[in-house]
Amino acid sequence: VLDTINIPTVVHIIYNNDKENISEEQIQSQIDVLNEDFNKKNTDISQIPKEFSDRSSSVNLRFSLDSVIRISSTKTSWGTDDEMKFSSSGGSDVISPNTRLNIWVCNIDGGVLGYAQFPGDNPDTDGIVVSPQYFGTSGSAIAPFDKGRTTTHEVGHWLNLRHIWGDGGCLQDDFVADTPESNTPNYGCPDYPVVNCESNDMTMNYMDYVDDACMYMFTSGQTDRMRAVFASGGPREGFLN
Ligand code: ARG
Ligand code: ZN
Ligand code: CA
Repeated sequence: VLDTINIPTVVHIIYNNDKENISEEQIQSQIDVLNEDFNKKNTDISQIPKEFSDRSSSVNLRFSLDSVIRISSTKTSWGTDDEMKFSSSGGSDVISPNTRLNIWVCNIDGGVLGYAQFPGDNPDTDGIVVSPQYFGTSGSAIAPFDKGRTTTHEVGHWLNLRHIWGDGGCLQDDFVADTPESNTPNYGCPDYPVVNCESNDMTMNYMDYVDDACMYMFTSGQTDRMRAVFASGGPREGFLN
């Protein structure tokens, strides 16, 4: 059995209007989803096809809401250039990235649901960014991205996971052995099986691009890859102290 790793989480709300200034309840609904999805407590695991069911895995992370910072802004939307992460550009500065997950919630341009920084990069921009309409399960959250899975997906990247199709052709790997090869993202809510690269895609993995209701698993291989970043000498070892 894996030890539980605690992930204190700082949420920066950068808002231009009341709808973007999301409630504590909406924030907590997202923390609750993370605690379900990263502990295999999500009830939709029952939908995993038999082929993949014994690969489904708990990562054993416990997320807690450390603090919420609210910043009113005159900007109505933000690019993916990290400006929201600096008070000098109207955003909110990162807090203790070696021991905290930082999440910035602000309206991202062009319908982008969210984006993340991989481990081992610049500490000043370490964390994930999610648009308020895709954050949590209540309030301003909008279907089909209203089950908090954008944040689950982005935290996967923050813990070094690649997209399930490896962002390339069949031979482009995601560096995880127990996820099938694929050469393309899946969207919407595909019926099983979807065949690519001569195997069935694991479309229900959190690291594909399907709708929130249609993604419900990490694998054992993904669990190992994520937990490796917390090991001694790893980029997120600070969380174990
Ligand atoms: N496009 C985003 C990314 O690559 C997030 C996709 C999240 N998908 C979802 N169903 N919530 O990081
Ligand atoms: Zn992604
Ligand atoms: Ca793989």
